Amino acid sequence: MTEQMRQAMKERHTVRQFDGTPLTDAEKSILRSRVDELNKQYDLSIALIESEKSPLSFLGKTLMGGAGVYSYFVLAADDRDGEDEMLGYAGSDLCLYAQMNGLNTWWMAGTFNRRFVEGLVSGKKIVSIIAAGHGKTQGVPHKSKRPDQVSSYEGEAPEWFNNGVQAALLAPTALNMQAFTITGKGNTVSLTYKSGPMSGIDKGIVKHHFELGAGKENFEWA
Ligand SMILES: Cc1cc2nc3c(=O)[nH]c(=O)nc-3n(C[C@H](O)[C@H](O)[C@H](O)COP(=O)(O)O)c2cc1C
Repeated sequence: MTEQMRQAMKERHTVRQFDGTPLTDAEKSILRSRVDELNKQYDLSIALIESEKSPLSFLGKTLMGGAGVYSYFVLAADDRDGEDEMLGYAGSDLCLYAQMNGLNTWWMAGTFNRRFVEGLVSGKKIVSIIAAGHGKTQGVPHKSKRPDQVSSYEGEAPEWFNNGVQAALLAPTALNMQAFTITGKGNTVSLTYKSGPMSGIDKGIVKHHFELGAGKENFEWA
């Protein structure tokens, strides 16, 4: 499973246009069971929703050119400390899991119709939605910073650290900011993200990618 998720990190790119065909029963069922596992493990309220009405905002449809989005994860949780990072971490898992199963994804924190989505999942804090479906294309790799711009290691960096940083650079971040810094010493790694409205979510996503790339067994978070 880890190998397939690592492969999915390389293949995943944002896709904003979907062909509009519904998820198959098999696709729905595997995504729902993953959502259930993550909700249970991290005490979250993520939902996989299908709606006839598009959840995109006007901006999402026009400026971002989004189309064909009728199935999506709503990333929701109780409003508590650290929920953004937790939802970022779990959302990243769902993007890669969807990719592994032949689907494409589009993470949205801004360009969805919040009022409409809040009406579907009430009483929880909604930090993002992630469209999941059959993309018209597979997307393209994002423009990326270099490892030395986002990381440093005291002494000679071991292979697992370099692999983790490479994986972190593949992570989707809001506005493709990649505003993270990863530092390593011995087997301890620390991750910081430049403060901003999406920094909690982005931190969770980057953390998830670093763990997959580096191998959780090789290090500890500071
Ligand atoms: C937390 C978060 C919020 C995002 N919000 C939006 C959004 O509101 N609208 C949009 O078109 N893309 C959004 N994106 C997609 C990013 O622009 C995209 O992930 C980034 O440019 C990197 O490209 P990639 O996903 O192809 O690697 C968001 C991504 C993340 C991680």
